[in-house]
Amino acid sequence: MTMPATFDDWLANSNAPEGVVEVLTVLGRTCAEISTVVAGGALTGVLGASGVVNVQDEEQKKLDLITNDMLTEALLACPVVAGVASEEMDTVQPGTNADGAWLVLFDPLDGSSNIDINAPVGTIFSILKSPNAAPTEAAFLQPGRDQLASGYVLYGAQTMMVLTTGQGVAGFTLAGDGTWRLTHDAIQIPADTKEFAINMSNRRHWAEGVQRYIDGCLAGVEGPRAKNFNMRWVAAMVADVHRVLMRGGVFLYPWDKREPNKPGKLRLMYEGNPMALLVEQAGGKATTDGVQRILDVEPTQLHQRIPIALGSANEIDQVAAA
Ligand code: F6P
Ligand code: MN
Repeated sequence: MTMPATFDDWLANSNAPEGVVEVLTVLGRTCAEISTVVAGGALTGVLGASGVVNVQDEEQKKLDLITNDMLTEALLACPVVAGVASEEMDTVQPGTNADGAWLVLFDPLDGSSNIDINAPVGTIFSILKSPNAAPTEAAFLQPGRDQLASGYVLYGAQTMMVLTTGQGVAGFTLAGDGTWRLTHDAIQIPADTKEFAINMSNRRHWAEGVQRYIDGCLAGVEGPRAKNFNMRWVAAMVADVHRVLMRGGVFLYPWDKREPNKPGKLRLMYEGNPMALLVEQAGGKATTDGVQRILDVEPTQLHQRIPIALGSANEIDQVAAA
């Protein structure tokens, strides 16, 4: 088999501004390094808890901190980066580059409860234009539709990077020689599906519309949808959204009534927005509730949470109608 095009070649032919290409190059290189670190597992002592709790009140794993440091260091060393923000840091980190023009937000290791059971985890990233070279937190609070690029890396059976610069979605596989190769071009999410992903154990906490929608799927051919559905839940958003991008489906982490000050579990700026851009670019829909576009949400806080319903377009319409 001849080797597919490299990430560098693909970037050179993309529409992305030069600075964004530079940032994506740093992200590609650093995530390839993260892939090796994650794969080291118990042999290199990277598994387990760090003993530290993050701003979301979640216990950080050692690998959350290691990968956060790797990305922060690599990105702030890049001359075009004006600042970074991460799930694992309370506030933003401005760079010291006078030429900094781009902001990078990331979830360094999504699904990190999967680490210790050797199940898939990922890195999610989002790139915005910086209003100035010394950005404060307010500079990062831009709606998702303003993202110049977004993507993720899935550390699974293969390590894959999936990204968009606003002209469709491309997927790259990490080759043995450390280069990323274009293996999935023009990724499209089928409009129809028979597969849903949701944490069913929260059913009693959901709003009635979501309960009705899922109950309709569970009722199968005898129910209102007149077809049988399949359910999947990897418990790492990157892996669940990757499945949706590869073969269709819907992924929901809906609003629930447990904690009124927490509208959902997932975070807008480095989970919802980057995934929403990818899903829309692949022809799917990405909403908070079946209707409201995630990319149009005006952010108010760096770590704000948001309900999510994304995936196959016709199925998201069914969520809205339920
Ligand atoms: O980042 C949060 C996260 O780990 C997502 O990757 C994943 O989709 C979700 O939480 C899993 O939530 P739960 O523990 O409720 O299954
Ligand atoms: Mn996450």
